[in-house]
Amino acid sequence: MTNSETVYFNGSYTPKNQTKLSILDRGFLFGDGVYELIPIYNKHIFYVKNHLNRLRSSLELINIDSAIVNDEKFIKIIKSLIELNSYVNHYIYIHISRGVDKTRNHVYTNECDPTILIMGENYQPFDKSIIEIGKSAIIEEDYRWLKSNIKSTSLLANVLIKNKAYTSDAYEALLLRDGYLTEGSASNVFIIDNGVIKTPKLSNKLLPGITRKFLADLIKEHGLEFDECDISKEKLLSSDEIFCSSSTNPVVPITQVDNISISRNAGPISMQLYGHAQKFIEDSYK
Ligand code: PDD
Repeated sequence: MTNSETVYFNGSYTPKNQTKLSILDRGFLFGDGVYELIPIYNKHIFYVKNHLNRLRSSLELINIDSAIVNDEKFIKIIKSLIELNSYVNHYIYIHISRGVDKTRNHVYTNECDPTILIMGENYQPFDKSIIEIGKSAIIEEDYRWLKSNIKSTSLLANVLIKNKAYTSDAYEALLLRDGYLTEGSASNVFIIDNGVIKTPKLSNKLLPGITRKFLADLIKEHGLEFDECDISKEKLLSSDEIFCSSSTNPVVPITQVDNISISRNAGPISMQLYGHAQKFIEDSYK
Protein backbone atom coordinates (compact mmCIF):
# COMPACT_ATOMS: atom_id res chain seq x y z
CA MET A 1 0.00 0.00 0.00
CA THR A 2 1.43 3.38 -0.92
CA ASN A 3 0.93 6.68 0.82
CA SER A 4 2.37 9.78 -0.74
CA GLU A 5 1.14 12.24 1.89
CA THR A 6 3.77 14.72 3.01
CA VAL A 7 5.36 14.21 6.42
CA TYR A 8 7.93 16.24 8.34
CA PHE A 9 11.09 14.25 9.04
CA ASN A 10 14.21 15.75 10.64
CA GLY A 11 13.84 19.19 9.12
CA SER A 12 12.48 18.22 5.67
CA TYR A 13 9.05 17.67 4.13
CA THR A 14 9.05 14.30 2.34
CA PRO A 15 6.49 11.80 0.99
CA LYS A 16 5.47 9.28 3.66
CA ASN A 17 6.27 6.29 1.44
CA GLN A 18 9.78 7.56 0.71
CA THR A 19 10.79 8.55 4.23
CA LYS A 20 13.53 6.27 5.52
CA LEU A 21 14.93 5.64 8.99
CA SER A 22 18.26 4.08 9.96
CA ILE A 23 18.15 0.63 11.56
CA LEU A 24 20.38 2.12 14.28
CA ASP A 25 17.67 4.52 15.40
CA ARG A 26 17.13 3.96 19.11
CA GLY A 27 13.39 4.31 18.62
CA PHE A 28 13.46 1.28 16.30
CA LEU A 29 15.89 -0.77 18.42
CA PHE A 30 14.71 0.06 21.95
CA GLY A 31 11.41 1.93 21.67
CA ASP A 32 13.54 4.74 23.10
CA GLY A 33 11.27 7.68 22.39
CA VAL A 34 8.05 9.52 23.09
CA TYR A 35 5.04 10.62 21.06
CA GLU A 36 1.84 12.66 20.88
CA LEU A 37 -1.41 12.29 18.98
CA ILE A 38 -3.21 15.60 18.42
CA PRO A 39 -6.69 15.99 16.91
CA ILE A 40 -7.24 18.44 14.08
CA TYR A 41 -10.81 19.77 14.01
CA ASN A 42 -11.82 21.77 10.95
CA LYS A 43 -8.11 22.51 10.31
CA HIS A 44 -7.58 23.74 13.90
CA ILE A 45 -5.10 22.09 16.27
CA PHE A 46 -6.88 20.93 19.43
CA TYR A 47 -5.44 21.89 22.86
CA VAL A 48 -2.06 22.24 21.15
CA LYS A 49 -0.24 23.94 24.05
CA ASN A 50 -1.29 21.13 26.40
CA HIS A 51 -0.10 18.49 23.93
CA LEU A 52 3.27 20.21 23.42
CA ASN A 53 3.71 20.71 27.18
CA ARG A 54 3.09 16.99 27.73
CA LEU A 55 5.57 16.17 24.95
CA ARG A 56 8.21 18.30 26.69
CA SER A 57 7.41 16.62 30.00
CA SER A 58 7.79 13.14 28.41
CA LEU A 59 11.14 14.19 26.89
CA GLU A 60 12.41 15.48 30.24
CA LEU A 61 11.38 12.24 31.95
CA ILE A 62 13.58 10.26 29.52
CA ASN A 63 16.48 12.75 29.63
CA ILE A 64 16.12 14.27 26.17
CA ASP A 65 16.46 18.06 26.00
CA SER A 66 12.88 19.33 25.84
CA ALA A 67 14.00 22.64 24.29
CA ILE A 68 13.88 20.86 20.90
CA VAL A 69 10.10 21.27 21.13
CA ASN A 70 9.45 24.92 20.46
CA ASP A 71 5.74 25.83 20.34
CA GLU A 72 6.04 28.30 17.48
CA LYS A 73 8.16 25.95 15.34
CA PHE A 74 5.98 22.88 15.94
CA ILE A 75 2.72 24.74 15.35
CA LYS A 76 4.15 26.07 12.07
CA ILE A 77 5.10 22.54 10.95
CA ILE A 78 1.68 21.15 11.87
CA LYS A 79 -0.07 23.98 10.00
CA SER A 80 2.13 23.30 6.95
CA LEU A 81 1.17 19.60 7.03
CA ILE A 82 -2.51 20.54 7.29
CA GLU A 83 -2.17 22.76 4.21
CA LEU A 84 0.10 20.44 2.18
CA ASN A 85 -2.17 17.43 2.74
CA SER A 86 -5.53 19.27 2.83
CA TYR A 87 -6.36 17.83 6.25
CA VAL A 88 -9.68 19.06 7.65
CA ASN A 89 -10.65 16.63 10.42
CA HIS A 90 -7.61 14.50 11.07
CA TYR A 91 -4.91 13.60 13.62
CA ILE A 92 -1.28 14.60 13.83
CA TYR A 93 1.23 12.10 15.19
CA ILE A 94 4.50 13.44 16.62
CA HIS A 95 7.25 10.93 17.32
CA ILE A 96 10.62 11.85 18.85
CA SER A 97 13.22 9.17 19.44
CA ARG A 98 16.63 9.61 21.06
CA GLY A 99 18.09 9.33 17.57
CA VAL A 100 20.50 7.24 15.53
CA ASP A 101 23.40 5.75 17.52
CA LYS A 102 26.75 4.38 16.32
CA THR A 103 26.02 0.87 17.61
CA ARG A 104 23.19 -0.92 19.39
CA ASN A 105 23.96 -0.09 23.00
CA HIS A 106 21.56 0.10 25.94
CA VAL A 107 23.66 2.94 27.32
CA TYR A 108 22.92 6.20 25.56
CA THR A 109 25.20 9.17 25.06
CA ASN A 110 24.25 12.75 24.34
CA GLU A 111 25.90 12.49 20.95
CA CYS A 112 22.96 11.47 18.79
CA ASP A 113 20.46 14.03 17.55
CA PRO A 114 16.84 13.14 18.29
CA THR A 115 14.82 11.88 15.33
CA ILE A 116 11.69 14.00 14.82
CA LEU A 117 8.77 12.73 12.76
CA ILE A 118 5.47 14.60 12.41
CA MET A 119 2.80 13.06 10.19
CA GLY A 120 -0.95 12.76 9.69
CA GLU A 121 -2.96 9.79 10.92
CA ASN A 122 -6.43 9.08 9.61
CA TYR A 123 -8.65 7.62 12.35
CA GLN A 124 -12.42 7.59 12.04
CA PRO A 125 -14.12 8.59 15.32
CA PHE A 126 -17.31 6.72 16.23
CA ASP A 127 -20.62 8.15 14.99
CA LYS A 128 -23.07 9.39 17.60
CA SER A 129 -25.31 6.36 16.91
CA ILE A 130 -22.47 4.06 18.04
CA ILE A 131 -21.70 6.22 21.08
CA GLU A 132 -25.38 6.02 22.14
CA ILE A 133 -25.28 2.23 22.11
CA GLY A 134 -21.96 2.07 23.98
CA LYS A 135 -19.14 -0.46 23.88
CA SER A 136 -17.94 -3.38 25.96
CA ALA A 137 -14.65 -3.71 27.83
CA ILE A 138 -12.64 -6.40 29.55
CA ILE A 139 -10.70 -6.14 32.80
CA GLU A 140 -6.99 -6.81 32.69
CA GLU A 141 -4.19 -6.71 35.23
CA ASP A 142 -2.06 -3.60 34.69
CA TYR A 143 1.27 -5.32 34.13
CA ARG A 144 2.88 -2.30 32.44
CA TRP A 145 5.80 -0.40 33.98
CA LEU A 146 5.51 2.22 36.72
CA LYS A 147 6.23 5.19 34.46
CA SER A 148 2.95 5.18 32.59
CA ASN A 149 2.81 8.98 32.90
CA ILE A 150 5.41 9.10 30.10
CA LYS A 151 3.84 8.94 26.64
CA SER A 152 6.47 6.45 25.56
CA THR A 153 6.70 4.74 22.19
CA SER A 154 7.56 1.51 24.08
CA LEU A 155 3.98 0.29 23.82
CA LEU A 156 4.37 -3.50 23.77
CA ALA A 157 2.31 -4.10 26.92
CA ASN A 158 -0.41 -1.71 25.72
CA VAL A 159 -0.41 -3.42 22.31
CA LEU A 160 -0.76 -6.91 23.83
CA ILE A 161 -3.53 -5.76 26.17
CA LYS A 162 -5.45 -3.87 23.45
CA ASN A 163 -5.25 -6.94 21.21
CA LYS A 164 -6.61 -9.12 24.00
CA ALA A 165 -9.57 -6.74 24.19
CA TYR A 166 -9.93 -6.82 20.40
CA THR A 167 -9.92 -10.61 20.19
CA SER A 168 -12.49 -10.64 23.03
CA ASP A 169 -14.76 -8.42 20.88
CA ALA A 170 -14.27 -5.55 23.31
CA TYR A 171 -13.37 -1.93 22.61
CA GLU A 172 -11.01 -1.50 25.52
CA ALA A 173 -9.29 -3.20 28.47
CA LEU A 174 -9.77 -1.46 31.83
CA LEU A 175 -6.56 -1.88 33.83
CA LEU A 176 -6.34 -2.73 37.51
CA ARG A 177 -3.17 -2.39 39.57
CA ASP A 178 -3.40 -3.87 43.08
CA GLY A 179 -7.18 -3.96 42.71
CA TYR A 180 -7.53 -0.30 41.69
CA LEU A 181 -8.36 1.22 38.32
CA THR A 182 -5.50 3.01 36.55
CA GLU A 183 -6.65 3.65 32.96
CA GLY A 184 -7.43 1.83 29.70
CA SER A 185 -4.84 0.35 27.33
CA ALA A 186 -5.17 3.47 25.14
CA SER A 187 -7.54 5.75 27.07
CA ASN A 188 -8.34 7.26 30.46
CA VAL A 189 -11.36 5.91 32.32
CA PHE A 190 -14.16 7.73 34.16
CA ILE A 191 -17.08 6.34 36.18
CA ILE A 192 -20.33 7.91 37.35
CA ASP A 193 -21.10 7.10 40.94
CA ASN A 194 -24.31 8.55 42.40
CA GLY A 195 -24.17 11.53 40.05
CA VAL A 196 -20.47 12.23 40.69
CA ILE A 197 -18.04 11.90 37.76
CA LYS A 198 -14.94 10.14 39.09
CA THR A 199 -11.56 9.30 37.58
CA PRO A 200 -8.28 8.07 39.08
CA LYS A 201 -6.06 10.91 40.23
CA LEU A 202 -2.88 11.61 38.24
CA SER A 203 0.20 9.62 39.23
CA ASN A 204 3.06 7.64 37.67
CA LYS A 205 0.51 4.85 37.00
CA LEU A 206 -1.43 6.58 34.24
CA LEU A 207 -1.10 8.98 31.35
CA PRO A 208 -2.17 12.58 32.03
CA GLY A 209 -4.61 12.50 29.10
CA ILE A 210 -5.26 15.78 27.32
CA THR A 211 -8.87 14.70 26.73
CA ARG A 212 -9.08 13.94 30.47
CA LYS A 213 -8.03 17.57 31.08
CA PHE A 214 -10.47 18.83 28.41
CA LEU A 215 -13.33 16.90 30.04
CA ALA A 216 -12.33 18.13 33.52
CA ASP A 217 -12.52 21.71 32.15
CA LEU A 218 -15.99 21.00 30.70
CA ILE A 219 -17.18 19.33 33.91
CA LYS A 220 -16.19 22.44 35.91
CA GLU A 221 -17.66 24.82 33.34
CA HIS A 222 -21.02 23.02 33.46
CA GLY A 223 -21.08 22.72 37.26
CA LEU A 224 -21.08 18.91 37.33
CA GLU A 225 -19.71 17.07 40.36
CA PHE A 226 -16.16 15.76 39.89
CA ASP A 227 -13.77 13.76 42.02
CA GLU A 228 -10.25 12.50 41.26
CA CYS A 229 -9.91 9.53 43.57
CA ASP A 230 -9.05 5.85 44.00
CA ILE A 231 -11.54 3.53 42.26
CA SER A 232 -11.58 -0.10 43.40
CA LYS A 233 -12.63 -2.98 41.17
CA GLU A 234 -15.86 -3.29 43.19
CA LYS A 235 -16.62 0.43 42.76
CA LEU A 236 -15.89 0.20 39.03
CA LEU A 237 -18.22 -2.75 38.51
CA SER A 238 -21.04 -1.29 40.62
CA SER A 239 -20.85 2.18 39.03
CA ASP A 240 -23.85 3.70 37.23
CA GLU A 241 -21.91 4.57 34.08
CA ILE A 242 -18.39 4.12 32.72
CA PHE A 243 -16.72 5.89 29.83
CA CYS A 244 -13.27 6.02 28.24
CA SER A 245 -11.62 9.17 26.91
CA SER A 246 -8.88 9.68 24.36
CA SER A 247 -7.89 12.03 21.57
CA THR A 248 -9.51 9.76 18.98
CA ASN A 249 -12.89 9.62 20.80
CA PRO A 250 -13.44 12.07 23.69
CA VAL A 251 -16.24 10.03 25.33
CA VAL A 252 -16.85 6.30 24.69
CA PRO A 253 -19.51 4.87 27.01
CA ILE A 254 -18.81 1.35 28.29
CA THR A 255 -22.01 -0.56 28.94
CA GLN A 256 -20.57 -3.97 29.72
CA VAL A 257 -17.38 -5.10 31.52
CA ASP A 258 -16.50 -8.78 31.11
CA ASN A 259 -19.92 -10.38 31.64
CA ILE A 260 -21.27 -7.67 33.90
CA SER A 261 -23.81 -5.20 32.58
CA ILE A 262 -23.16 -1.60 33.69
CA SER A 263 -26.01 0.15 31.88
CA ARG A 264 -28.42 -0.77 29.09
CA ASN A 265 -27.14 1.92 26.73
CA ALA A 266 -24.83 4.89 27.13
CA GLY A 267 -25.75 6.58 30.40
CA PRO A 268 -27.24 10.10 30.64
CA ILE A 269 -24.22 11.83 32.21
CA SER A 270 -21.83 10.26 29.68
CA MET A 271 -24.10 11.47 26.87
CA GLN A 272 -24.37 14.92 28.45
CA LEU A 273 -20.58 15.18 28.52
CA TYR A 274 -20.32 13.82 24.98
CA GLY A 275 -22.75 16.58 23.89
CA HIS A 276 -20.75 19.29 25.71
CA ALA A 277 -17.53 18.04 24.08
CA GLN A 278 -19.07 18.03 20.59
CA LYS A 279 -20.53 21.49 21.10
CA PHE A 280 -17.23 22.91 22.37
CA ILE A 281 -15.45 21.51 19.29
CA GLU A 282 -18.11 22.81 16.87
CA ASP A 283 -18.24 26.28 18.49
CA SER A 284 -14.48 26.70 18.92
CA TYR A 285 -13.32 25.47 15.53
CA LYS A 286 -15.73 27.05 13.04
N1 PDD B 1 -3.58 7.18 23.33
N2 PDD B 1 -3.92 6.49 28.34
C1 PDD B 1 -3.25 5.82 27.40
C2 PDD B 1 -2.46 4.62 27.80
C3 PDD B 1 -3.29 6.25 26.06
O1 PDD B 1 -2.59 5.59 25.12
C4 PDD B 1 -4.08 7.39 25.73
C5 PDD B 1 -4.19 7.90 24.32
C6 PDD B 1 -4.76 8.05 26.75
C7 PDD B 1 -5.58 9.29 26.48
O2 PDD B 1 -4.74 10.39 26.26
P1 PDD B 1 -5.21 11.61 25.36
O3 PDD B 1 -6.52 12.06 25.86
O4 PDD B 1 -4.15 12.63 25.55
O5 PDD B 1 -5.30 11.13 23.93
C8 PDD B 1 -4.66 7.59 28.05
C9 PDD B 1 -3.47 7.73 21.99
C10 PDD B 1 -4.75 8.13 21.39
C11 PDD B 1 -2.62 6.81 21.14
O6 PDD B 1 -1.81 6.10 21.70
O7 PDD B 1 -2.73 6.85 19.92
